[in-house]
Formats: sequence, structure tokens, C-alpha cells
Amino acid sequence: MPLLLPASDPAAIEAAAQRLAAGSLVGMPTETVYGLAADADNATAVHRIFAAKGRPADHPLIVHLAPGEGAQGWRAGVDHYAREVPAFAAALMKAFWPGPLTLILPRRDGVAAVAAGGQDSVGLRCPAHPVAQALLVAAAARGVSGVAAPSANRFGRVSPTTAAHVAEEFSDLPDDGLLILDGGACPVGIESTIVDATRGHPVLLRPGMITPAQLEAACGQPVRLRDEAAPRASGTLESHYAPRAKVRLMDGKPLQAALDVLGADAKHIAVYAHSPLKVARGVPLRRMPLDAARCAQELFAVLRELDATGVRLIWVETPPADTAWDGVRDRLQRAAA
Ligand code: TXA
Ligand code: MG
Repeated sequence: MPLLLPASDPAAIEAAAQRLAAGSLVGMPTETVYGLAADADNATAVHRIFAAKGRPADHPLIVHLAPGEGAQGWRAGVDHYAREVPAFAAALMKAFWPGPLTLILPRRDGVAAVAAGGQDSVGLRCPAHPVAQALLVAAAARGVSGVAAPSANRFGRVSPTTAAHVAEEFSDLPDDGLLILDGGACPVGIESTIVDATRGHPVLLRPGMITPAQLEAACGQPVRLRDEAAPRASGTLESHYAPRAKVRLMDGKPLQAALDVLGADAKHIAVYAHSPLKVARGVPLRRMPLDAARCAQELFAVLRELDATGVRLIWVETPPADTAWDGVRDRLQRAAA
């Protein structure tokens, strides 16, 4: 079993930083989801991430940078990893870092090539979570410039938003193979918004809780949606974030109609809906919050919980059309694909 330590203990942060510096893996809470972290400049350590996740090695990882603008803060980190920073990207960093925004920048030759999955670009993010920040600062003090961390789940599966989820995903790793810092439930709950800054104008690669309108207001440029020329991003694969049960998205009315037809035969189905639906006794039902941020926060935990009831199908009511729901809708569409 992986070693699970409370992040409130400063000795646990030190132990985790030491492991990062030694090339080992750490389960790191961030404001979005938990990450599976390793020293981004240590190719052997980064290979351990790909192996543990079962993720193809050509799928690039995000490199996390320490807070602050000093010698070991994110500005120094950006200099270390990025060849250049377009003005609109600098404006986005200023507006949203630390926070749930990842920027894809042209990569400096010879750095973090394995973490970048062979791309000539690199994804950078300065997380806002106090535990991630403390860990990144402690690791930087030991010479670690940045920490590569994909979401801490097996490839294609639901992202983890608690330390227990991470322990479940990697229960086969030994305690000296993975130390998980328990920092509680992640407050944002879905992964960072990703903006590609390598093509002269901002391109949205993955929607998140920072919306295009907020990005545009901060950088003064229109944000384009990704097209087929966009670089590969596993978070942008059509099928991703999938529980074991089959997920189906439906509007409230047809969802209710289908439940009515099945009646007590709906026991193999779980339901997650914002409308007040009627279900037969024994059908697991979770009410979806009407606030997008609150829904994002619980989304992955709810999918895991409904999955764990052993149902074959999870029927989810289509979220509202409002752009505040883009991130949640995106994750649900991929879970259903
Ligand atoms: O919120 C998050 O972003 C979380 C936490 C742990 O920070 N991390 C996360 O990592 O979601 P991951 O690996 O599950 O998703 C990162 C996405 C992937 O879709 C990856 O392909 C894309 O970022 N990405 C990373 N570097 C890239 C690059 N150089 N070019 C294009 N896409 C890149
Ligand atoms: Mg992921």
C-alpha cells in the first residue's frame, strides 16, 4: 500500500520533498485534483509516472511551479522551462497564477523532454493549493525546479479529488513507491483550464473553471477553440474520465420518462440529476447542485460513489447550457463517450 500522511504535519511535507528530490513519486493535493508528482527534470522519475498510470509516454504532463516571484518561484520556473512567453500568456499568468490555469509554452531545448512527452512545448502551472505550494517550495529548496504531475488516476479513469481516491487507484504500489499527502478534498474538483500559447494567439485546449470570457478579459484577446491541428492532450481525448459503469447524458424529461417505463427494473441504473426526478426504491439517486462550481467540486467523487454501488449505467441529466458549466459538461461528455 502507498504511504498516506496528513499534509498538516510539516514533517510529512519535508518527507515528500525529499522523495521528490530522490526521484520517487508523491501524491500531491492541488486545488483542482490530486496529482501524481515527480521531479520534472529527472527522466527516470518521470518514467515512473507514465508506468504507474499506464499512460502512453507521448502524452505530455503538466509541470507545476512554486509560488512567489523569487529565485525559486514560478517566474524562475518559467525561465527554466519556457523558451519564450508571448505577452498574452504573461498577462494570463499575472491574472490567474497561482490558480487553476495551465499554459502551454514553447519548451527550452533540452529541459523536461520526457515530461513534455517529446513535444517541443511544455505545460506550466502554478497551483493555488497551500499543500501543493508548501511541497513545491520545499522541493525547490532541494534543487527541484518543477514537478511534473498528471492527475493521479490510471489512464482514462476518473480523476481523484481525495487522498483516498489516490490510494485506491495505486493500491498496488508499495509504501516506498508512493507517498500520498492527504490535504483533504480538492476545492475546485475538475482539472485546470488549459490554454495553448504556442501559436501566436490563445487557444483553449481544455475547458475548466476559468472561462473563456475571464481569459479574454484578462489578456485582451479572443480565445479560439481548439481545432484538429492542436497538440495531443489526453484530457482532450474523446473518451476519458470514465467510470466502470456506462455514463449516459440525457435531458430531464426523457430521463424521467425512461425511469418511469423501467420502474423497479431500473435497479442497475444510478441517477445524477438537477431536476427533482422520481425514481423507484433502491435506485441510487444524487441531486446535482444548481451551482456549477459546487457541481465541479463534487463531480468526480459522485461518479466514483455511484460507480461503487455496482450499477451498470449512470444516467446524468445534461447540465445547463450556461458557459459557467463548460468544464463540467466537457468532463461528463467525455465520461459518456
Ligand atoms: O488541474 C490539473 O491540470 C491537474 C493537476 C494535477 O494539476 N493535472 C492534470 O494533468 O489534469 P493531466 O496530465 O491529467 O492532464 C494534463 C493535460 C493533458 O491533456 C496533456 O496532454 C496536456 O495537459 N498537456 C500537457 N502538456 C502539454 C503540451 N506540451 N502540449 C499539449 N498538451 C499538453
Ligand atoms: Mg488526467
